[in-house]
Amino acid sequence: MAKVRILFVDDEPNVLQGLQRLLRPLRDQWDMETAGGGSEALERLAQTPFDVIVSDMRMPGMDGAELLNRVMLLYPGMIRIVLSGYSNQENFSRSIGPMHQYLSKPCTLAQLENCINRACFLHDHLKKNQTLLALISRLQTLPSMPALYTQVVSELKQDEPSLEKISQLIFQDPSMTAKILQLANSSFFGFYSQIADPLRAIKVLGLDMIHSLVLTYQIFSQLDSKLPATFNLAKLWNHQLCVAQASKKLVFLWGLNKSIREEAFLAGLLHDLGQLILAANYPDEFLRLLALSQDIFPSVQAEQDALGVTHADLAAGLFALWGLPTSIIEAVLYHHQPPPAWFYPAPTAVTAVYVAEQLIQAPATDDVAPYLETLNLLDTLPSARKICQDTLAGASELEGWPHE
Ligand SMILES: [Fe+2]
Ligand SMILES: [Fe+2]
Repeated sequence: MAKVRILFVDDEPNVLQGLQRLLRPLRDQWDMETAGGGSEALERLAQTPFDVIVSDMRMPGMDGAELLNRVMLLYPGMIRIVLSGYSNQENFSRSIGPMHQYLSKPCTLAQLENCINRACFLHDHLKKNQTLLALISRLQTLPSMPALYTQVVSELKQDEPSLEKISQLIFQDPSMTAKILQLANSSFFGFYSQIADPLRAIKVLGLDMIHSLVLTYQIFSQLDSKLPATFNLAKLWNHQLCVAQASKKLVFLWGLNKSIREEAFLAGLLHDLGQLILAANYPDEFLRLLALSQDIFPSVQAEQDALGVTHADLAAGLFALWGLPTSIIEAVLYHHQPPPAWFYPAPTAVTAVYVAEQLIQAPATDDVAPYLETLNLLDTLPSARKICQDTLAGASELEGWPHE
């Protein structure tokens, strides 16, 4: 197998020397080169191709964000990883954009190796899957990254995001504003006060939840008119809200940090988007698979047999094209089966979405037990089951998808 070519970029020579020493044991797998800044990195990339770039964030001249933005435009197939010493940049909202993965300094050899190996594995899995690529290239109706979402995220990336500016953007879409108002008044999210003011509704839900809702709502809107009349959009919307909310609570149960909670919520909201894409593009095939499965959505096995890929592959492939963070792509890809054992030695958003999906679809199932055991979380299964059952019970009051 060809070696993975990796370019490390940092303005501090000591850091680059330290990395070279740290990574020496991996020289049989990786070809590593270094650059002392953004301009030097771009010159190096113009001369010879690399598979992965790992960059510091704060550098004089061109900073890491600008460098990775340029790399994204010039070499969209490259894997982009940030290795930064500033933990305040770990804020998930800010990470949506030019990077695939985020690592904080100092990191161990095992962390760096695992991060790069996962990114390469996913890249190969999605970009070299000819069936998936052919399916995506044949799609007539591929949702685009919603412009409104891009605008909201760009405001969120400011040092001090303005709630007023974000609200003004959201108010451009009256049906989405109505949906946000409805959710802010719903006890499903644990809010019990009556809120009539949309600005207050945005404040109550919080910007992190809002940006996830904007993305999902806008994608649903793009595909709504393309779906077969019998497609149950309300059911899918509510199911994704349930998985998102339960995933977030599971992350809390396992004591993981806030950025993982936000990742889990967004991934939960997006996890079954592949169903929408299939139904909008192949309505006849979708309805045939639906009839076979005798359920509200086709079975994963029926999709695999008929198309060679599943709705999970399809959505993960689309999010990879959009450049969403790897944690989201992985959580979507592995919501029907756990990731390979080496992927994560500890629970993450991927764990939360997989467990939430299984326990919401089949509350009594023990299928998640072996995976939880590998993460030393088996004793949390009864609490996880209760969280998912309570979330499902609370969903009965959700009104579903608003058809005009
Ligand atoms: Fe699914
Ligand atoms: Fe699902």
